[in-house]
Amino acid sequence: MNLALINIKQLVTVPSDGKRVKTGAGMSSLGLIENAAVLIEADKITWIGRMEELSMSSLGEADVLDCLDRVVMPGFVDSHTHLLFAGSRDDEFALRSTGASYREIADKGGGILNTVKHVREASKKDLKKYARGRIGAMLRHGTTTAEIKSGYGLDAENEIKMLEAIRELGHEEVMTVVSTFMGAHAVPPELQARRKEYVGAILNNMIPYVGSKKLAEFCDVFCEKGYFGVDDCRSILEQGKQFGLLPKVHAEELSHTGGAELAAEVNAVSADHLEHVTAAGIAALASKEVVATLLPGVSFFLNHPYAPARKLIDAGVPVALASDFNPGSSMSYSMPLMMTIACTQMRMSPEEAITASTLNAAAALNLSGERGSIEVGKKADAVILNIPNYRYLPYHFGENHVEKVVKNGVVLEW
Ligand code: NIG
Ligand code: FE
Repeated sequence: MNLALINIKQLVTVPSDGKRVKTGAGMSSLGLIENAAVLIEADKITWIGRMEELSMSSLGEADVLDCLDRVVMPGFVDSHTHLLFAGSRDDEFALRSTGASYREIADKGGGILNTVKHVREASKKDLKKYARGRIGAMLRHGTTTAEIKSGYGLDAENEIKMLEAIRELGHEEVMTVVSTFMGAHAVPPELQARRKEYVGAILNNMIPYVGSKKLAEFCDVFCEKGYFGVDDCRSILEQGKQFGLLPKVHAEELSHTGGAELAAEVNAVSADHLEHVTAAGIAALASKEVVATLLPGVSFFLNHPYAPARKLIDAGVPVALASDFNPGSSMSYSMPLMMTIACTQMRMSPEEAITASTLNAAAALNLSGERGSIEVGKKADAVILNIPNYRYLPYHFGENHVEKVVKNGVVLEW
């Protein structure tokens, strides 16, 4: 089916110029076209231009979507989520609001292990049911591609249950779903005193199974004191590579551990968090063009320091933004909210925040060749926003400005 988007007041294309990512000053170039139109054939963009260049008679049988002078931009790519979960952590939220820290709550058996208990008790069917509701809401907030991590199972049976659920959601939902194996999210409760045994299970049982069954594209690790050290993370990521899983790292989140340097060393696709990254870590990421995925929702929600976005951008590191949507450290899937926090707390410009949530975020999933920008030949994923210009997206916060979503060339109904 063919589709024409017409009467677009401002089209934000985020042009890749044939590159994988945007860096430095390039992050500010949004490729704006005023009074624009976009033509789509099947799921791909075939033409972009100004309304006056479009001959309406050439549209033939195409469905025409009049965008009524709205802003159109690429669908948002949320490249870091833990959206497959059961249970709630509102009790921990309340404790934090009166002064308890994320680390103190985790040390008492809360945190990730709290959610592990609920996920182990839940069936795959129930996990998918909860996730489906969240995915629908994310689409309505403009997210058209989402990565989902395992990591609340922490044994072979429950990690595989999570990954199968993620794969099935990817087949059943219109959202593009990318799967990440994160067995190294925490040491499971039954092996607290036997961390090495758990790392052995990840290396010798879980990764070979996940890789051979193609249950994930990526392998992620929580490189943090009290979780997994640099050496264990390196072994896990290298073993993942042997089985076709590309490396990602939760790096420098609660303290400085050298996770950023490790990400560069293993040629990770992305290093995520980076609240405590050092100058050496920034230089290492820049040297390998590792995408730095910043998660401002976590700093906001936990009242933690923010990642040094300006230093990263100025050093030439490609920066992406993601929600980290999870029940503990960031209970939000709103990419526009992440952009607002990035602008107000990390001094990113609206242009940089948009690039970081589209093209660079797609690069964090190795998808920037097909998604993350509005360019001829790319998949037609776009959001139609009821705002006067693109700056209003981060500026007018707390409101969902998404009016319509086009996913793979189809206008979604809700
Ligand atoms: O990215 N850091 C580890 N993982 C998540 C938190 C998950 C949780 O608290 O359940 C994060 O912040
Ligand atoms: Fe995370």
